[in-house]
Amino acid sequence: MSRTTWDPALYLTFDDARSRPFFDLVARIGADAPRRVVDLGCGPGHLTEVLARRWPDAAVEAVDSSPEMVAAARERGIDAVLTDVGSWTPRPDTDVVVTNAVLQWVPTHPELLARWVEMLPPGAWFAMQVPGNFGAPSHALSRDLADRRGLTLRDELAVREPADYASILGGPDVDVDVWETTYLQRLTGDDPVLTWITATALRPVRDALDDDAYADFRAELAPLLREAYPVRPDGTTWLPFRRIFAVAHKRS
Ligand SMILES: C[S@@+](CC[C@H](N)C(=O)[O-])C[C@H]1O[C@@H](n2cnc3c(N)ncnc32)[C@H](O)[C@@H]1O
Repeated sequence: MSRTTWDPALYLTFDDARSRPFFDLVARIGADAPRRVVDLGCGPGHLTEVLARRWPDAAVEAVDSSPEMVAAARERGIDAVLTDVGSWTPRPDTDVVVTNAVLQWVPTHPELLARWVEMLPPGAWFAMQVPGNFGAPSHALSRDLADRRGLTLRDELAVREPADYASILGGPDVDVDVWETTYLQRLTGDDPVLTWITATALRPVRDALDDDAYADFRAELAPLLREAYPVRPDGTTWLPFRRIFAVAHKRS
């Protein structure tokens, strides 16, 4: 499948709920005065700004492979560059790397992780978060419908399990902190799960189908999602969302 296009404004819908794992992730980074902080897959840059505020003396490097996201980040004053993480390597002064909700789009990321951590200087921190919900009804139902249209969406193999990341990142000179959390997202509005996945998981479907076919796809998916995630008596819809976190610290 070709490059996924992103809609920065749509992605920022549910910003609060989508950003929470980022804050839980970076809370585990212990760097005091990093020389360079990198946001790999920076998206619209709103969270890169958080990194820049936390470490105001650091050089901030932001990369993303989406021209739309890079443009949105630049509009915020983040000097983002258009780069695929597959061709990114850390500069020698890179003391912190954060990659939040990105590596699930990068099938080769396990090999990249091992290489990046090897290349980071002593004392550096590497922090990553990926969704662990590819088997959830939201994704399984989308995948089935896409499959019937000849489209292949990512499955459970898009990410590894927490223990795999601990093995990949850990080593004699690297301490690892790996965990998972299932957030119960309490959503409101009509078809909120469909809206939630529209900005992320459905991007490849949006790219592959014309307007009418995409509208048909959504019309078929909507009732299935409503059944899998029923509206509660108080009007909210609950979406359990599992996420996997790993923080590696190279000893000085
Ligand atoms: C779900 S968004 C996350 C954005 C931001 N990190 C955040 O937490 O809000 C995923 C981002 O990963 C970027 N991305 C996906 N594959 C990439 C790749 N191979 N190289 C660089 N960026 C990539 C997308 O363009 C998108 O901006």
